[in-house]
Amino acid sequence: MKFSVETRDLTKVKTDLLVVNMHDGKVDSHSFANKIDKKLGGELRKVIKKEKFEGKVGQTKLINTHGKISAPYVLVLGLGDKKKFDLEVVRRGGGKIARVAKEIHATHVTTAAHGGHLDTYSKRECAQAVVEGMLLGTYHFAPYLKKSKDAFAIKQVAILCPDKTKIKEVKKGIERGELVSQGTSLARDLINTPACDMTPVQLSRAAKFLKGVRTKVLLTPQIKRLKMGAYLGVAQGAVNPPAFIEMHYKPSGKPKKKIALIGKGVTFDSGGLSIKPAKFMETMKDDMSAAAAVIGLMSIISRLKPKVEVWGFVAAAENAVDARSIRPGDIVRAMNGKTIEVLNTDAEGRLTLADALHYASQKKPDYMVDMATLTGACVVALGERYSAIMGNDQELMDQLIKVGNLTGEKLWQLPLAEEYKSELKSPIADLKNIGGNYAGTITAALFLREFVGSYKWAHLDIAGPSWTDKPLEYETRGATGVMVRSLAEWLCGSIK
Ligand code: BES
Ligand code: ZN
Ligand code: ZN
Repeated sequence: MKFSVETRDLTKVKTDLLVVNMHDGKVDSHSFANKIDKKLGGELRKVIKKEKFEGKVGQTKLINTHGKISAPYVLVLGLGDKKKFDLEVVRRGGGKIARVAKEIHATHVTTAAHGGHLDTYSKRECAQAVVEGMLLGTYHFAPYLKKSKDAFAIKQVAILCPDKTKIKEVKKGIERGELVSQGTSLARDLINTPACDMTPVQLSRAAKFLKGVRTKVLLTPQIKRLKMGAYLGVAQGAVNPPAFIEMHYKPSGKPKKKIALIGKGVTFDSGGLSIKPAKFMETMKDDMSAAAAVIGLMSIISRLKPKVEVWGFVAAAENAVDARSIRPGDIVRAMNGKTIEVLNTDAEGRLTLADALHYASQKKPDYMVDMATLTGACVVALGERYSAIMGNDQELMDQLIKVGNLTGEKLWQLPLAEEYKSELKSPIADLKNIGGNYAGTITAALFLREFVGSYKWAHLDIAGPSWTDKPLEYETRGATGVMVRSLAEWLCGSIK
């Protein structure tokens, strides 16, 4: 799918499908839709009225133009209530356009930079969101199919921009949209690949040879030398050995900030000896979603060119059931010297992150952000569309929450409640790896805090949004690749 900017009169452009907007069930007098309606002799308004088309978000109406304009079909795309308009509406719209185009086999599509006519968001942002919607909406995980069902591909998409002074902005949006979609698709691929093939070493291979990124991979002997006892404890039961991944990007010129990103990379979470029930284990190949987000981001970072230095860390491991598996009651010593009584081997993510966080802190970053599919409790609390955010620096958390509202990857802050710290007390070790019956997402974050030192830090529990069985227009069933877009947006623009 190639994107370009179209400045010519939209009624004359050669295209298989022309897409126009509609808000609130009305065709605005200054809109593209109005222009088309005139050319079609009022046909558009007639259909809308007759069929009571309301133009809700995700709603579309396909109209045959019978040769009255050069495009054979016009697609009216509902953008819903003007007051509730945001970039997520555009992204979902983009996904919908791509799906309709596929259905009618339209290889050339021309569309407005939806929402660019309002001043809520810039033309750059709107164009980016359309591109994201269309690219992510046509994502398809096919490597394991004998014959891909989705052979049809949209070739060319032109984004309308009659205002010549805005061409640069739209182009920038297209470029950004293409990049973040590429990073997100890579993350989705890594996650959707079954754990039999996406082992820790295989994951580390995906992190090697990324453009403009230096990657180092540490294997068992080196991990032992570093005394990452918590991480090794998780990995010890698996036939597939662990791999610790370190990625580094440096901008040209003096970096504004140094950032450390840490992603949980459990390639399969069986629960270990505290084994999961079958139903809960089904999707556990997605327990490296956060690692995939970090790798997905690093895969595009040299083209995003943020003016910050970025380190990425993944302590990849498989949590397997075996005679050599770590047992409930075992005590491990983490790299920072703290001992942990492992009472539940299914609370393994925090053990791998404990060592990854301490290792990351040695780079002395300005900000540390870790992400993890860490707790089922988070899905209970916030559902599938919100990730939890906690941390020790409100300004950092506010930046990330704001970014999430732009990208549609919503974050909701939970308290890092001191009151619950005592839940992690063990009589025979410095910590235990589980809290009590309640607030599991918070006690997990309190556990992680023990390994971040005095650095500014935020923790994101992405257990809900990392996977979907009820996909939006720009998603497909399975991995969502959540957080690649937000990290890109944060690093490129909103970082303070
Ligand atoms: N990977 C799971 C968390 C998870 C659950 C992610 C559902 C996505 C969907 C994690 O390792 C885990 O098993 N956590 C336990 C912690 C408990 C033993 C304290 C959980 O949430 O049950
Ligand atoms: Zn687990
Ligand atoms: Zn897990």
